[in-house]
Amino acid sequence: MISLRGVRKTYASPAGPVEAVAGVSFDIKEGEFVSILGPSGCGKSTLLMMLAGLEHASAGTIEVAGEPLTGPRRDAGLVFQDATLLPWLSARDNVLFPIKMMRLEREKYVARAEELLRSVGLGDFMDKRPRELSGGMRQRVALCRSLIHEPSIMLMDEPFSALDAITRDEMALVLLDLWARHRKTGVFITHSIREAVLLSDRVLVMTRRPAVVVADVAIPFARPRDESIQDTPEFNAIVAQLRGMIEHSIKAAA
Ligand SMILES: Nc1ncnc2c1ncn2[C@@H]1O[C@H](COP(=O)(O)OP(=O)(O)OP(=O)(O)O)[C@@H](O)[C@H]1O
Ligand SMILES: [Mg+2]
Repeated sequence: MISLRGVRKTYASPAGPVEAVAGVSFDIKEGEFVSILGPSGCGKSTLLMMLAGLEHASAGTIEVAGEPLTGPRRDAGLVFQDATLLPWLSARDNVLFPIKMMRLEREKYVARAEELLRSVGLGDFMDKRPRELSGGMRQRVALCRSLIHEPSIMLMDEPFSALDAITRDEMALVLLDLWARHRKTGVFITHSIREAVLLSDRVLVMTRRPAVVVADVAIPFARPRDESIQDTPEFNAIVAQLRGMIEHSIKAAA
């Protein structure tokens, strides 16, 4: 579904070129959920923006569904660190906003918007404005918004990192549940090793900038997954293995 070959990104800056991504190649199969872990500033958001078609690669090729990526695609849903909701619209209308942008028929999507909101526990909050919602609720609205047009790919850049630890754990379970219902191809960027292992079929580990992928670890737990897998020795062994790889890559770079 997604294929990268030798993808590089160098930004121009007044102080000279900044090499953010140094040559990344990997494939993601249809329906696979892949997390990308790496230290701050290593180029993860840059990589995601390239996958979204919002930044051009300086070199290399990106193919989505067998076609070279030339710009933003309708079949991708995006979720960022901030919910970026429109303050004057209700939760329901925020979820429906992409439908308006794509000039699709609103009436065909209202029931889906409401079903999505109910599925993330916001059944009683559909008419509320963003300021009347908590941070976690706003991020749930953003997740529903990214799914409203039935995208085949979901691209998420640290969607839960602005939340407190308890809400964040809760949101990971909300996403796990959403995933079980609307299976997509997913790319998820996070700093949390546990979140990556809980949610993913594979975890890629990136080095410090300029980033390359140093590890590609399969997560063997069957789906649908239950939160209780986090208490198993197998889960904790994979978390420890990934932590070791990240520490090793940071030391090697230093
Ligand atoms: N538009 C830009 N112009 C110049 N340099 C940029 C631009 N965007 C990002 N960079 C640089 O590219 C590098 C990678 O940035 P990026 O945002 O991709 O990192 P990240 O891995 O997402 O970090 P974090 O985990 O903190 O979100 C950084 O050194 C950053 O300063
Ligand atoms: Mg980032």
